[in-house]
Amino acid sequence: MLRRLHHEQPEGFAFTPDNQKWAEAQITKYPEGRQASAIIPLLWRAQEQEGWLTRPAIESVAEMLGMAYIRALEVATFYFMFQLQPVGSVAHIQVCGTTSCMICGAEDLMEVCKDKIAPRPHELSADGKFSWEEVECLGACANAPMAQIGKDYYEDLTTERLAEIIDELAEGKVPVPGPQNGRYASEPLSGLTSLKDHDSGKTQYNASAQLATDIGDTVKRIDGTEVPLLTPWQDRADKTPAAAGNADQTPEESVAQTEAQEPRPAEGKPVDETGATEQEAQEVEKGHPQSRGDQQEGGNQEGPRNPRDVTGTRPAGLTEARDGRPDDLKKLRGVGPKLEAQLHSMGYYHYDQVAAWSEDEVAWIDQNLEGFKGRASRDGWVDHAKELGKKG
Ligand code: FES
Repeated sequence: MLRRLHHEQPEGFAFTPDNQKWAEAQITKYPEGRQASAIIPLLWRAQEQEGWLTRPAIESVAEMLGMAYIRALEVATFYFMFQLQPVGSVAHIQVCGTTSCMICGAEDLMEVCKDKIAPRPHELSADGKFSWEEVECLGACANAPMAQIGKDYYEDLTTERLAEIIDELAEGKVPVPGPQNGRYASEPLSGLTSLKDHDSGKTQYNASAQLATDIGDTVKRIDGTEVPLLTPWQDRADKTPAAAGNADQTPEESVAQTEAQEPRPAEGKPVDETGATEQEAQEVEKGHPQSRGDQQEGGNQEGPRNPRDVTGTRPAGLTEARDGRPDDLKKLRGVGPKLEAQLHSMGYYHYDQVAAWSEDEVAWIDQNLEGFKGRASRDGWVDHAKELGKKG
């Protein structure tokens, strides 16, 4: 299936303030130089906010991560979970068409979608409220046939029940997700025959349906206010004994306990060109290499190089572009608007400047690109600049 951007695109994209805060927090999970690792969660949040992934959204995320647009586009077009065309304003229905569901009536469910929504997948219904598609196994085979609607699963479906669900959604209601035939989860329809202890202490719905009902975000466009932002490393200073629930602790003890228990972010530590974090490089220096640093990048027996060992020589720069006309450095492999601006601030505006860098100079550039260490050698800028220069 050919996946390309939709022919009609909105003018622009901006995360809602809460989604923006969330997105910025995700980026802090990765070491300096590896911000691009946040691409999938950020694209996903953009889709959750808008319903589908627009070109301005992809470009906006690429800019946040300092990536070339084409790299973000590669990710967006590769994964089928990203919707590259508008979806229904109320719900996008994904009917599982794989073996278990197919045997149990998935094709009939798709007939309902064709009848009530649109004859072809990814087409909007006449009122723009719904769209549908067939997807591969969603892992709920014991409750076949099933469909994902918005964020949640509707299982043990019949054609009649799916038609009702669509009607209810159109009226602004959100039917309870989970099994639609009276089952609690995936036990026999006649009830449990063993392990009956699980019957006690049940919530009204099974765990996932209960959570979906409690949060209420099944078909909601996500604006970041639905669940609290969990980035404890960003607000440790606010942690007090009272907040932690132990009034006997001093603030220092409380923070220490919190730090020991909570996930730790990369805290802006840089990675060197082997991909090891600076912490790992320091461990090697001290004679205590960590196992990950030992094993990665094809099993480098010498351990990662410490970035501070590589200084290189600063290549000569210009105070401004010749004739006020810089080359488009964004055409260099892996260079986006942020990296181009950084190169300008260092005095590099032209392909011939980059093409002339010696190995020693590339090493200096690699070490001095704020947030993008190692890019010049990793992406082969010198050779690429020579090619671009030849093309004029
Ligand atoms: S086959 Fe449909 S969920 Fe697995």
